[in-house]
Amino acid sequence: MSVSKNKSATEPANGHRAAAVIGWPITHSKSPAIHTHWLKEHQIDGHYGALAVRPEDANAFFADFKSQNLVGANVTIPHKETVFRHLDYVDGAAKEIGAVNTIWTTDGGLSGTNTDWIGFQENLNDHAPGWQTGGKTAVVLGAGGAARGVVYALKQNGFTEIIVANRTRARADEFKARFGDSIVPVALDDVEDHLAHASLLINTTSLGMEGHPPLTLSLERLDRNALVTDIVYTPLTTPLLALAKTHGHVTVDGLGMLLHQAVPGFERWFGVKPVVTHTLRQLILKEMGLDA
Ligand code: ATR
Repeated sequence: MSVSKNKSATEPANGHRAAAVIGWPITHSKSPAIHTHWLKEHQIDGHYGALAVRPEDANAFFADFKSQNLVGANVTIPHKETVFRHLDYVDGAAKEIGAVNTIWTTDGGLSGTNTDWIGFQENLNDHAPGWQTGGKTAVVLGAGGAARGVVYALKQNGFTEIIVANRTRARADEFKARFGDSIVPVALDDVEDHLAHASLLINTTSLGMEGHPPLTLSLERLDRNALVTDIVYTPLTTPLLALAKTHGHVTVDGLGMLLHQAVPGFERWFGVKPVVTHTLRQLILKEMGLDA
């Protein structure tokens, strides 16, 4: 099995605690910078690195996870679904979302959860407090893995009508089977007909991301009080958010979701609940070459 180490994620053994992000490729991950910041802030004798694991090696890697001497890990693309079959315990959120992004070792084996939905929720709590009280209808653009975490968070926060709009309509239909009758699946081309009653519009597609086509959507029919957010954070102000601002909508960018999804893992592995601060945000912006 070829596992290339980026820094030495597995290096510390002398009582130190080590965790890592596991994906393929992994070079652009911001997780090491986030967790290293918190380790320093709390003066914890620990380490957080990055492990690049090829898709064809993932089953063997997770089957023998204990040999890595890690207290746990973040699991990212393309392993969020593969890791499932190697877990001894999966919590309810991860089961409903169908993906795991955070694992930890226990005496009984390997446990997993999904913290993406918490990242989404806490980003809005942070930047748009009261976001869940404006109405009960939300429009979600996209029906991929990221959308599943967002829809789970919307359900947890009392949304009773969740319009899932996707280019491939069949994937939106699968959301109704997974999440129940609060889901209204529609084709992405028809989504403008569904904007009028929404209090929240979320982009979970890759449209608008650097190197991808922009999202071309008219916001004419969206209620002016609706909040608009994007889980894409490169660029920070996506074309959707820029357009929403010109219409006077409150907007929230996606960087906070990345920062907040890291909190539960750090707390579980290192025993301290860290806080997402302005300093951390500035640090990650700097890593992205976007120091504001
Ligand atoms: P992730 O796990 O990040 O959500 P994904 O499962 O590949 O990634 O989902 C990507 C989402 O972006 C999907 O909703 C995808 O639509 P399809 O299901 O039709 O593929 C959407 N997407 C990607 N490129 C798109 C494009 N050019 N136009 C419309 N939607 C697009």
